[in-house]
Amino acid sequence: MYRAYLKELDTKNRMASSKAASKLKAILFLGTVRENRVGLRVARFMQKQLEKRNYEVEMFDPLEMKFPLLQKPVHFYGPERTGAPQWLQDAEKKIKAADAFVIVSGEYNHSVPPALSNMLDHFPGSIFSYKPSAIVCYSPGIYGGMRAAMALRPLLSEMGTLSVSNIFGIPEVHKALDEEGVPKNDHMEKGAGKLLDQLDWYATAMKNHRNTAGVPQ
Ligand SMILES: Cc1cc2nc3c(=O)[nH]c(=O)nc-3n(C[C@H](O)[C@H](O)[C@H](O)COP(=O)(O)O)c2cc1C
Repeated sequence: MYRAYLKELDTKNRMASSKAASKLKAILFLGTVRENRVGLRVARFMQKQLEKRNYEVEMFDPLEMKFPLLQKPVHFYGPERTGAPQWLQDAEKKIKAADAFVIVSGEYNHSVPPALSNMLDHFPGSIFSYKPSAIVCYSPGIYGGMRAAMALRPLLSEMGTLSVSNIFGIPEVHKALDEEGVPKNDHMEKGAGKLLDQLDWYATAMKNHRNTAGVPQ
């Protein structure tokens, strides 16, 4: 009897450790498209930090992916997505498969850069739901883009993704990272680390619960 119990425990432990070893999938949304944007440096830096933590990362760059000004969100093409451009359907599938989101946002007029909200508006909230998100904001000034982060919170909340309490704000961003996203001070990895500790926790917990209990329909 006791042996059977130990055997069951061993199987459970092995299952738990193989789950822990499996990679979490993250989508990193880059929020700006401006010529000489600094956002790309921040996104590159965050991608490295995520990969170091064993995330499989996909960067959504509105410039590279050529998101048009919103004409038709993917879910407006109907349940079969009939006629939706293939690139948009592929992007939706990637978001659906993701466990966590990282939003890299500059601050434009104390708010969210339009390229970022335009990109997010292409997708239904249901594919972001029951998954966590982490906000990384920046500015050349001393406030680190925090006002944009505050404006992002209700937007992310409406999309159904839980924005973790920590926000990684990067003041004087041009002094913090070189063009390749290599940090120029010690605060960068520390700041990202605090944010990603929270993201990891929620992403793992929510993934496990999605897998065992599903989500409300
Ligand atoms: C339209 C526009 C509005 C801006 N508004 C703000 C602002 O409200 N607060 C701020 O700190 N910086 C503001 N800036 C400066 C940006 O923070 C800075 O240009 C930053 O590098 C933008 O990110 P990006 O380089 O990725 O585009 C603004 C820049 C633009 C182009």
